[in-house]
Amino acid sequence: MTLQYSDAHMAEKADEAAFDIEELFFSRTDARGVIAAGNEVFRRISGYSWDELVGAPHKIIRHSDMPKGVFYILWERIKQGMATGAYVKNRAKDGRYYWVYAVVSPIEGGFVSVRMKPTSATFEGAKAAYKAFLKLEQSEGLSPEESAAAIRARLKDLGFPNYGAYSSYAIAQEMSARDAALSRMEDGRLRSLKELLPTLVELDKEQQALFAAFAKIRGIPSNMRIVASRLEPAGGPISAISQNYRLMSDEVTNHLGGFRVENGTRSLSESVMLRIYRGLFMMAASRLQREVKEVSMAALGKHAEQDGFQTEVEILTTMLDDYMIESGSVLVSVFNDVTALTRSAKDLRQLVTGLDSIRVLCRVEAGRLGAQSASLMPVINQLDTFHVEIDATLERIMSLAERIKGLVEAAMPRTFNGSLHYHSATGALSR
Ligand SMILES: Cc1cc2nc3c(=O)[nH]c(=O)nc-3n(C[C@H](O)[C@H](O)[C@H](O)COP(=O)(O)O)c2cc1C
Repeated sequence: MTLQYSDAHMAEKADEAAFDIEELFFSRTDARGVIAAGNEVFRRISGYSWDELVGAPHKIIRHSDMPKGVFYILWERIKQGMATGAYVKNRAKDGRYYWVYAVVSPIEGGFVSVRMKPTSATFEGAKAAYKAFLKLEQSEGLSPEESAAAIRARLKDLGFPNYGAYSSYAIAQEMSARDAALSRMEDGRLRSLKELLPTLVELDKEQQALFAAFAKIRGIPSNMRIVASRLEPAGGPISAISQNYRLMSDEVTNHLGGFRVENGTRSLSESVMLRIYRGLFMMAASRLQREVKEVSMAALGKHAEQDGFQTEVEILTTMLDDYMIESGSVLVSVFNDVTALTRSAKDLRQLVTGLDSIRVLCRVEAGRLGAQSASLMPVINQLDTFHVEIDATLERIMSLAERIKGLVEAAMPRTFNGSLHYHSATGALSR
C-alpha cells in the first residue's frame, strides 16, 4: 500500500503546510477507510486533487512520524462503534506536514472525520509522547498491537482509565484552547464537566476509605466473642452485644452494595467517571461538528464546496444532534446514580448510628466489669476510631455528591433543561 502512493509523494519535508485556526477539515470514508468525500480545506491543505483523493485510502496522507499504535487503537475503537479522537500528524502531497486533532465517528457504511488545529498544552505532551513511541516501535520492533498496549499502559500511568478517557480530556482541552485563541467565551458546560473529574477522584478516594473502614471492623464481633468467653459464662452480655453487632454490621455491609454498580463489579465513582468522560467527549465532539457544519454551510453558500456536499452537511447535522443527546442522557444517568448514592450514604449513616448505640452499650458493660475488662479495651478503642472515621467519611461523601450534582446540572445541554428532576422520578428519557 505504501509503495502504491510513494510515487505520488515527494520526500517528507521539515516545513509545515500551515492553515488558519478557523479552518476545519471534513472527510468521509467507507468501512475500510477509503475516501468517499471531503471538504475543500482538506483537499487544499493535503495538496491533492479530488481525483486523487476520492477512492484512495485515507492513509494517502499518512506521515512516517506517526506511531503505528495510534492507528491500531483508532481502528480497534471505531470498528467497535466508538467515536474516537486522536492527534494526527499528516503529510501533504508535497511532503510538508500538518497536525490535526481528529474525531473519527462511525456512521452507516463508513466513518466521518472532523479535524481542527491543535493548540493546547496537551498537544505538546502528545507530540513528545509520539516521538518516544515511534522510537520504541523502531528500536524494539514492536507490532502495532504491542505499541498500542504500550500507549495504553502509559495513559494508565498518567491517570486515564482508558484511551477513550484520554481522548475526551484532549478534545476538551483543544476546544478550550480554541475558544481562547479565537477570543470566544469559554464553554461553561465543558468547564463544569472538566471540573467534575477531580471531584470524582476525591469521591473515589472516600469510597475506598469507606470500604476499607468496614473491612477493618469485620473481625471485631469475633474478637469480642473471644474476649467474652474469657470474661463471662456463655451467652453473657458481651457475647450478646457482639452477636447484635455482627447482625447490624452485616446489614451495613449489604448497604455498601449501593456504592457499587454493574452487578457489583465497579465502584459507583469509577462508573460515573467513565460516563463523565464519555459525556465530555460527546459534548465536545458535537460542538466541533456544529462548527464544521456552520463553516460548511457558509462555504456552500459561496459555492466553495463540491457538488453534493449538502449530503455531507446532513450527515453532520444528524451526528451532532445524536452526540448532544447522548451526552445529555449520560449526564442524566450520572445525576440519577449520584442521587441514589446520597440516599445510600444517608441510609448508611442511620445504620451506623444503630451500630453506635451497641458500641456505647459495650462501653457501659466494660465499665461494669471494671478492671476485669482490660482485654476488652482494645476492641472498644477500635470501635471508637471506626465510628469517628465513618461519620466523617459519610459526611464528605454526601457533600461531594451534592457538588457533583450541581456540576452535572451546570453541564446539561439546553435541550435537557428541566429534565433532571422529571427523569430522576420516572427513570425515563424523552427527547
Ligand atoms: C474517517 C477516517 C479518517 C482518517 N484520517 C486519517 C488521517 O487524516 N491521517 C492518517 O494518517 N490516517 C487517517 N486514518 C487512518 C488510516 O486509515 C490508516 O489507518 C493510517 O493512515 C495508518 O495506515 P496503516 O494502518 O496502513 O499504517 C483515517 C481513518 C478513517 C476511518
